[in-house]
Amino acid sequence: MRPEPHPLVQKYQDWSPRSAEIMIRGKQVFPGGDTRASAHFGPYPLVMERGHECYLYDVDGHELLDFMNNFTSLIHGHAHPATVKAVIDQAPRGTAFAAPSRSQIELAELIVSRIPSVEQMRFCSSGSEATLMALRCARAVTGRQKIMKMEGGYHGSYELAEVSLIPFPDRRGDIAHPNANAVDNSFPQSVLSDVVVCPYNEPELATRLIAEHAHELAAVIVEPMLGSMGMVPATSEFLRALREAATRHNIVLVFDEVITLRQSAAGEQGRHGIRPDLTCMGKIIGGGLPVGALGGDRNLMQVFSPESKDPVFHASTFSGNALTMASGLSTLSNFEEKDAQRLNALGDQLRAGFNQVLSQFGIRGAAVGSGSLSNLVLTDIDIKSSRDVMEGMIAAGHIGSLLHLSMLRHGVVSASRLMYCVSTPMREEHVDQAITALSESLAELRPYIEAERPSLLK
Ligand SMILES: Cc1ncc(COP(=O)(O)O)c(C=O)c1O
Repeated sequence: MRPEPHPLVQKYQDWSPRSAEIMIRGKQVFPGGDTRASAHFGPYPLVMERGHECYLYDVDGHELLDFMNNFTSLIHGHAHPATVKAVIDQAPRGTAFAAPSRSQIELAELIVSRIPSVEQMRFCSSGSEATLMALRCARAVTGRQKIMKMEGGYHGSYELAEVSLIPFPDRRGDIAHPNANAVDNSFPQSVLSDVVVCPYNEPELATRLIAEHAHELAAVIVEPMLGSMGMVPATSEFLRALREAATRHNIVLVFDEVITLRQSAAGEQGRHGIRPDLTCMGKIIGGGLPVGALGGDRNLMQVFSPESKDPVFHASTFSGNALTMASGLSTLSNFEEKDAQRLNALGDQLRAGFNQVLSQFGIRGAAVGSGSLSNLVLTDIDIKSSRDVMEGMIAAGHIGSLLHLSMLRHGVVSASRLMYCVSTPMREEHVDQAITALSESLAELRPYIEAERPSLLK
């Protein structure tokens, strides 16, 4: 006999019967019912019908405020009229050509004009491909093999990009020399020995580790904010230490700005005033269509030129496809520094409101993050690394998932890991609605926290 669902899970199921019904069909054709692990959560995700501006509409007829934005990629929310028009204008003229086009060059010119470190670039089809090609570039240029990545860093759907993404307490090792760990059983041993794992936001330890491994490191890759592990901003001091050590030892410094490019016209590197050698991009630059890009120092990027001696081979069937280029060009043309600043202020408002509600309810927790990117963590320890976020996840237990389901029922969509990001159709009243939803959700949740997880109460 199946155990009874938690009363709040039952409420979610009663509230979303059509999603439940459709997910039964989904489970026949997709392992787990969905075609993407990151979007999955129990008992089943909501099935969406359509999106408009900052709202999503599910198959049960709920209108939901979208603070997920397809994992931060929809800077203008859904169906921005100019982007829709750009795609509609392009579609009848062809969707992809194995040839250069003006729109590729125009979008690249726009990006190059905004990010000083990006002198030349290449488009590709995903952020995963962008980070992969950045690491290949670094290996080709330096002749070295190993990659340093951060503990808790995520760079895409391949093994190296996920090493030590989750700092499991029983396996992560000493903070000064974190272990290279697999996140699942698919990892070849060789990948683990190709990676040096660096603790996040520890400038002195990072400088020492880089010096120790300098002879074998091709690249140091870092997210200027740990995205998948809790929206933890890097300090400028940490990023500067990586910059200095990489320069000292001729190692290629790669900023993975797939998530963080939305933080200013020149991404997080613009806000920190630090220049990486290579930058990986994705998400917002495709305006909602699949995309990735990699750019940086002209001399490094030259390894991709088929006209260079010993080029690195970068093919990619849908790279620079006409629909993505049209959509991306329209989207970025309508997203300038002032828009990024406005979104960052909305993010500040969201975090301040969330923090106030948590404290009103006497719950240990905080909204962390910076600019337009936020994450709720249910712990009151100071969050500086993925290890801290992990402590929060352990402390929260099942309460984090219940809060997510409750927020959905109160009309707010976030990532199940409680990541929230804002989009340009949002105004202060939308942020206020999310803050009210948190208050209503915690009112509902508080008796269960008292009974099932009292350690979360102050
Ligand atoms: C920081 C970062 N890098 C790379 C990727 C991979 O991008 P994609 O999912 O487009 O392959 C992601 C995806 O979420 C990401 O967050």
